[in-house]
Amino acid sequence: MKQGRGQGGGARRGRGSGQGGGSGQARPGRTGRAGHGGPAAHAARNGQPSRQGRGRPHRDEARVAAYDLMRAVDERDAYANLLMPTLLRQRRLTGRDAALATELAYGTLRGLGTYDEVIAACSDRPPEEVDPPLLDAVRLGVHQLLRTRIPPHAAVSATIDLVRLRVGAGPSRYANAVLRKVAGRTLEQWLEIVAPPREEDPVGNLAITYSHPRWIVTALRDAVGGDVDETAALLEADNERPRVALVARPGRATVEELVAAGAEPAAYSPYAAYLPEGDPGAIPAVGEARAAVQDEASQLVALALTRVPLDRDSTWLDMCAGPGGKAGLLDALATQRGARLLGSDLQYHRARLVWGTTREAKVITADGTRPAWRPGAFDRVMLDAPCTGLGALRRRPEARWRRDPRSIPELTALQRRLLDSALEAVRPGGVVAYVTCSPHLAETRAVVEDVRDRVEVLDARAFLPEAPGLGDGPYAQFWPHRHGTDAMFLALLRRPR
Ligand SMILES: C[S@@+](CC[C@H](N)C(=O)[O-])C[C@H]1O[C@@H](n2cnc3c(N)ncnc32)[C@H](O)[C@@H]1O
Repeated sequence: MKQGRGQGGGARRGRGSGQGGGSGQARPGRTGRAGHGGPAAHAARNGQPSRQGRGRPHRDEARVAAYDLMRAVDERDAYANLLMPTLLRQRRLTGRDAALATELAYGTLRGLGTYDEVIAACSDRPPEEVDPPLLDAVRLGVHQLLRTRIPPHAAVSATIDLVRLRVGAGPSRYANAVLRKVAGRTLEQWLEIVAPPREEDPVGNLAITYSHPRWIVTALRDAVGGDVDETAALLEADNERPRVALVARPGRATVEELVAAGAEPAAYSPYAAYLPEGDPGAIPAVGEARAAVQDEASQLVALALTRVPLDRDSTWLDMCAGPGGKAGLLDALATQRGARLLGSDLQYHRARLVWGTTREAKVITADGTRPAWRPGAFDRVMLDAPCTGLGALRRRPEARWRRDPRSIPELTALQRRLLDSALEAVRPGGVVAYVTCSPHLAETRAVVEDVRDRVEVLDARAFLPEAPGLGDGPYAQFWPHRHGTDAMFLALLRRPR
C-alpha cells in the first residue's frame, strides 16, 4: 500500500479514488492553513506551549507500535491483522497497552480517508505531498483527536514526541501546527467542512464521512439497491470490528460446548456461537479443530448447499476450498450423511490448510478451470470464487485502500470460467452453490445471469429460513449491517437433467 499508489487518489487513499474521483475534495481557503514552518506553524508554536525541541521525546510504546504497524502496511504491504499480534508480542505489550495500540492503528487505517481530508484543510500542502512517515504520524494524531477520548493536549504532545522519535525534530513543527488546527473542531464539525453535502453528492459525502474509496461506495450503493441511508448503515458497519464467530463442526463439537467455554449462541446458524472476549484458540474444541473461527454467513451458505433435496447424494466437491472454512463444515456434514467431500484449491499452501480443517475429505491441489475430475462426477459443488472481498472489509482495516477496481474484469472472467467448470463437474440434477464474499453486482448477479438459460435457479432464501432480510431472491445476500455477518452472496443452481 505505497503512498501515492491509490487509483486516482494518490496518497489520500480514499479521496476520490477510482471512478469519477474528485468530488469531496477539501475546498481551499475555508480554514486557515498551516505549513511546514510557515506563518501558521509559527503562530501555533508561539500561541501554545509545545514540547518540541525540549529534552528527549517521551517514548510511548503503544503509540510507537501503532505507528510501526502503519508504516509496515504502507512500506511492505503488510496485513495489519496478521502483523499486529507479532508486534505486540515483540514489544511485550499486553492488556490496556495492547488494546490501545490495536485501536489506534486499526482505527487510523480505517479512517484515513476522512483524516486526509481534514489534514488537507489544515495544511498548506495536500497529504500526497507530505513525507509518508510524517503523514502517518499526523494521521495517528488526528485519529486520537477526532475519534478517541484521549485529551487533546495529550494527543498532540504524544504525536509530536512520536514524530521526533521516528521522523525528526524539524517535521514535528508541521505536525504541531496541523494538529493544533485539527483540535479546534469536532469530527462532526470537520465533516461539515470537508464532506460535500449529501444531497448534492451522496457518494462523495459517504466516501468522506465513512472513509471508503469512492468506487467502493458506488459499488455498495448499487448492491443495496441505491438507498443512500442503507448504504450509510453498511459503510458504518464496515468501520466496526466484527465479533468473533465460531462454528461447532457437527458431529465433532456442539454449540453447547462452545457456550460452556464462554461463547454466546448465534441468531441464525445452528452451528454458530459468538465469543465476546478472549482467545478462541484457548477453547479446547477450537484447538482440536472440532470447532473453528468462521463467519456465520460463511456457515450458512455452505449449509444451504447441503439442504437442497437430491435423490442421490454421495459425492461433494469444494472447488476453491482454501483455507478451508467452508470445507471444514461441509466435511463434517458429509460425514454425518455418508457422503464424501473432495476439497481442491489452486494453491498448494492453501490446499494444505484444508487438510487441517477436514477429517474425512480428500484434498488436492488443482486448477478449477482445468478440472482434475471427470465431468458430472459430483452431486453437490461448492464454488466459493476468488473475488474482491468487498464483503469482508470489516476484517482488514487497510483492505479498502488496497482493492483496485481495475482487478474486477479479470476476476469476473475467472469467476465465469470457474462457474462453467462447476456446472460441468456437477451431474445432471445435482446442485452448484456459487458464492462470493462480495456483494459487487459484477461479481454476483452478472456472473450468474450469464448461465441462467443453462440451469434451474433455485430460490436460495428458501434453504435459509432462519435468516430474514436476504433480499428479493432468487439469490441470498447477507449484510454486515443487517445480519452482523460478512456480505456473502449465494446462488443455488441446479443442472437440468
Ligand atoms: C474465497 S477463497 C475460498 C475460501 C474458502 N472456500 C473458505 O471458506 O475458506 C478463494 C480460493 O480460490 C482459490 N483459487 C483461485 N483461483 C483458483 C482456480 N483457478 N482454481 C481453484 N482455486 C482457485 C484461491 O487460492 C483461494 O483459496
